[in-house]
Amino acid sequence: MENITAVILAAGLGIRMKTDVPKVLHRIGSKTMLGRIIANLKKSGVTDIIAVVGHKADIVESFFKEAIRFVRQPELLGSGDALAHAVDYMEEDGDVLVTCGDTPLISDDTYAKLVERHIREKASCTLLTSTIADPASYGRIIRDRRGNVLRIVEEKDLSGAEKEVTEINVGTYCFRKDNLKKFVRNIKINEKKKEFYLTDMIDILVRNGKRIVSETCEAEEAVGVNSRKDLADMNRIINRKNVEKLMDSGVTVIDPDTTYIDETAEIGRDTIIFPCTVIESDIRIAEGCKVGPFARLRPGTSLSRGVEVGNYVELCRTEIGERTKVKHHAYLGDTVVGRDVNIGAGTITANYDGKNKYRTEIGDNAFIGVGAVLIAPVRIGKGAVVGAGSVITKNKDVPAGETVIGVPARPLSTGGR
Ligand code: UD1
Ligand code: CA
Repeated sequence: MENITAVILAAGLGIRMKTDVPKVLHRIGSKTMLGRIIANLKKSGVTDIIAVVGHKADIVESFFKEAIRFVRQPELLGSGDALAHAVDYMEEDGDVLVTCGDTPLISDDTYAKLVERHIREKASCTLLTSTIADPASYGRIIRDRRGNVLRIVEEKDLSGAEKEVTEINVGTYCFRKDNLKKFVRNIKINEKKKEFYLTDMIDILVRNGKRIVSETCEAEEAVGVNSRKDLADMNRIINRKNVEKLMDSGVTVIDPDTTYIDETAEIGRDTIIFPCTVIESDIRIAEGCKVGPFARLRPGTSLSRGVEVGNYVELCRTEIGERTKVKHHAYLGDTVVGRDVNIGAGTITANYDGKNKYRTEIGDNAFIGVGAVLIAPVRIGKGAVVGAGSVITKNKDVPAGETVIGVPARPLSTGGR
């Protein structure tokens, strides 16, 4: 991947999204679209990455701390114009991999395959194409009888038989830098849309006798996000992949359609995830746990072996020890719970005082009765019992083995007074 510059076209408005947030900052799972693309390009081996930004450029630029270069497109005059601005920041040597900021499912393997093909074939341009059932809204690949690529025609400009073509332009291409530099400014404005179409480069290169080849990818990878509906479809595709990967590794997911699991989650064998459960990023779940139905595990949570987390339980930045049960209607935040603990229904850790967040610690074998409120910071000792409905006030630690009850909670040995 030496001499390869990747250019991500990310300046567009995303009109069809009807959004005030820059389109490429919309998230698929826990990652922004642009973040996903940058990560996959890096994984494929590309080190020099330029993102062309325009609409709300300041916000997009400040969002990414990664070492990529940003180039501004002053006026949003189309994908061809966007690429023309990036070309000024490249050497003559080598090749460029161009991709759109709204096609975040293209894998690192596909990027690598495209570049490899391009270099091997010594092509002027290598197109990434895919064949999809519903090609509406994509540019179509028009070939001659022998199968050579002639041009790309956008949806609005399709004529007669061209409408039947189901091979689409994914919007990802490799170009020789010198050819691109020479011809990119020959693109003429499209009169219908008043934009410079990058796709017109193909016709220009063909007319100048340049060699165009193509590489294909799965239809699922080719999906572009232009609307909120596309965004939802894409979330579904990614989620399905994450869930299937986990099932392949020995996790039971009762209902993949209603279970949302971030790709960063680690889940051990023989854990069962019940329906309507949401498992966000940075979560570790050991083997043999039960989670859900209707549970929400938020970032920074880990469950040790054999833990049971039941319905309407929310855990945030919380570690739970082996065999502990949190089975109904509870919220634990910034909490460390030991092993063999029972957290009764309706237990709440009050971890936030409106300004700061505080920790709760619950020792091994403790028993927290239903409806208890633990006001952090607070520690419940090993084997301690907190009576139903008790309120443990902050810093009033419960010693190991003690039973407390009441509001505010007092040791039972004093009659709860
Ligand atoms: C584009 C392709 C189409 C392809 C599809 C794949 C063109 C003309 N058409 O269509 O052939 O099938 O992607 O998803 O390229 N952009 C800028 N500056 C601009 C305009 C756009 O940076 O002035 C960026 C956008 O942010 C986007 C990309 O270029 O990431 C493509 O633009 P978009 O308007 O989404 O094009 P499509 O109609 O989806
Ligand atoms: Ca698009």
